[in-house]
Amino acid sequence: MLLVVMRRLLPLVCCLAVALAVGCAESETAEELAQGRLLFESQCGSCHGPTGGGGRGAVLAQPQLRRATDDQALENIIRRGIAGTEMPGSFLTPIQVSSIATYVKTLGRVEPEEIPGDAGRGAQMYASLDCQSCHSLGGQGGIIGPELDDIGARRNAAHLRQALLEPDAFVPTGFLLLRVVTGDLRVLDGVRVNEDAFSVQFRDLSGNLHSFWKDELETLDKLWQRSPMASYEERLSPAQTDDLVAYLVSLKGSP
Ligand code: HEC
Ligand code: HEC
Repeated sequence: MLLVVMRRLLPLVCCLAVALAVGCAESETAEELAQGRLLFESQCGSCHGPTGGGGRGAVLAQPQLRRATDDQALENIIRRGIAGTEMPGSFLTPIQVSSIATYVKTLGRVEPEEIPGDAGRGAQMYASLDCQSCHSLGGQGGIIGPELDDIGARRNAAHLRQALLEPDAFVPTGFLLLRVVTGDLRVLDGVRVNEDAFSVQFRDLSGNLHSFWKDELETLDKLWQRSPMASYEERLSPAQTDDLVAYLVSLKGSP
């Protein structure tokens, strides 16, 4: 008898326990959303923008996400991050993860951002400027800067505009600019490829790889917050900048 009562009560008790935390409903509740939103603003907003408009992180306010294709994938990404990218893992509880996920899904119910500029003209600009000497796109081009194949999926328009006009404002991890003075007093600039206690390897802006023992160098300076890319502010008119940004935004890669 007691057992039967217990069996009947157990689901109810569990539901009550969950109810206290998230509201005991299958679908989103106002309380869960509010909690998800608070967590999102504090943990994710610095990169994804307070309402998911993107920035350093991907635009989340869009109907279809490239990697977070379903609920499971979304929760996994929030828990573990995305290896090899700037998207970090977290130490959130399962309930917190699920409330953030619920909130993230509501972000996609907005109209996508209108972007001025013409992507077609931007593509021509891209081809006529020197971007390809440092960046690769569709397997063509240099390797000094990051690949641009899916840049429009990873960053928003405002971030891309800033990348062109003020490259020093944000330098992604992995692109540390070095300036070394060699034993015979040559000055070389380049992007760090590797470094340990005794040696350093870097690629100069023409793409040549250099490797030195540190004790052979006169000086080794790390220019944090200095981009190897020069600003295009003087070289592009505002309309040309719009076109180039529209083109970069259109580069979504393949899922
Ligand atoms: C340090 C910056 C940073 C923080 C903090 C951050 N993200 Fe991200 N996130 C990124 C970047 C960058 C990407 C794009 C990675 C890629 O695809 O190369 C990304 C990708 C994602 C994606 C995949 C988007 C897609 O297109 O499928 C989701 C979902 C996401 N982040 C959610 C979150 C949530 C939720 C939080 C907070 C718990 C968070 N992120 C915190 C930088 C960040
Ligand atoms: C001298 C080499 C060089 C040239 C030329 C160059 N870039 Fe870059 N670019 C870099 C490097 C290195 C970075 C990474 C450091 C940074 O963000 O400042 C970068 C960063 C970027 C970013 C930001 C990437 C991110 O993940 O946030 C974009 C967008 C970009 N470049 C586009 C362009 C376009 C478009 C052109 C041509 C108009 C161009 N670059 C010309 C080297 C270059």
